Amino acid sequence: MSRWIEGRVINNRHWTSQLYSLQIDAPIESFKAGQFTRLGLDIDGERVGRPYSFVNAPHERYIEVYSITVPGGPLSNRLVELEAGDFIWVAPKGAGFFTLSEVPEADYLWMLSTGTALGPFLSMLKTDEPWGRFEKIVLVHAVRTAEELTYQDTIRSLLTAHPDQLIYITFVSREDTDFAIKGRIPQAIEDGRLEARAGIPLTVDHSQVMLCGNPAMVNDTSEVLEARGLKKNKRREKGHITTENYW
Ligand SMILES: Cc1cc2nc3c(=O)[nH]c(=O)nc-3n(C[C@H](O)[C@H](O)[C@H](O)COP(=O)(O)OP(=O)(O)OC[C@H]3O[C@@H](n4cnc5c(N)ncnc54)[C@H](O)[C@@H]3O)c2cc1C
Ligand SMILES: NC(=O)c1ccc[n+]([C@@H]2O[C@H](COP(=O)([O-])OP(=O)(O)OC[C@H]3O[C@@H](n4cnc5c(N)ncnc54)[C@H](OP(=O)(O)O)[C@@H]3O)[C@@H](O)[C@H]2O)c1
Repeated sequence: MSRWIEGRVINNRHWTSQLYSLQIDAPIESFKAGQFTRLGLDIDGERVGRPYSFVNAPHERYIEVYSITVPGGPLSNRLVELEAGDFIWVAPKGAGFFTLSEVPEADYLWMLSTGTALGPFLSMLKTDEPWGRFEKIVLVHAVRTAEELTYQDTIRSLLTAHPDQLIYITFVSREDTDFAIKGRIPQAIEDGRLEARAGIPLTVDHSQVMLCGNPAMVNDTSEVLEARGLKKNKRREKGHITTENYW
């Protein structure tokens, strides 16, 4: 099978000067929520491809990805300029193991994200699976500034559909707000602020934790959780922590 198939941009939604979401039409195979696709453009005679998590659920018509321009980044600074009708290369199949099928049963599911890594959690939450499996689901989005708390409409719909199950918690690290937790996820687990805000315990007995985004967050948070006795999920041995690093 070919490594790439042809796609067309349907829409490019600009949330801030750096954050955008692309909707793409391409005849890809079915994928699992939480997986990623690859997007590619031919730049200076070379095909530049990078992985991007699906934000759309598998049943939704168009591929959607949520991206940030990184200074000097070859692909993200080109994707941001795409407009409806533009051509893009897309991988024919989804890939990756950051999916609910890799997560053992538990009472509570914690979904912890930084920046654009909110995306794969939205894909999972738009499916039926998590709502049938977990009593409570805590969606955490950690960003630098409040304007980066995107996808508010989607999150509001999820909260309306699952008022007793979904808990949405935001972190803003570089601005004062009157609603978000100030600072970083691992510190707020250590000092109890995250559990206090969620109103449920984050313990070995009750919890599964999915971590996605900045590898330093994934690493630091894993260390704090491991100090509480939670273990990484492995193929041969069930644990409590499932991770995906974006770089
Ligand atoms: C499995 C997987 C899934 C991914 N899914 C997404 C996604 O859904 N959305 C997304 O924006 N990116 C995602 N990424 C990162 C993405 O593939 C690109 O690296 C990113 O868009 C930058 O591309 P670039 O060519 O401009 O720069 P690159 O040369 O790829 O990256 C340059 C540097 O930018 C920083 N960086 C990369 N990605 C991010 C990011 N998302 N947020 C903050 N800093 C970053 C890192 O310091 C990196 O070393 C994913 C990566 C992996 C491995
Ligand atoms: N040039 C610019 O003006 C500018 C502005 C914004 C972004 N950018 C670029 O955009 C990218 C950053 O994107 P982003 O803001 O989405 O991602 P990010 O740097 O990963 O920040 C997202 C959140 O993760 C937190 N975080 C970072 N390290 C952590 C750790 N070890 N443990 C826990 N939390 C941690 C950050 O907190 P902290 O705030 O405490 O780090 C922030 O709240 C970078 O490539 C950056 O260079 C550039």
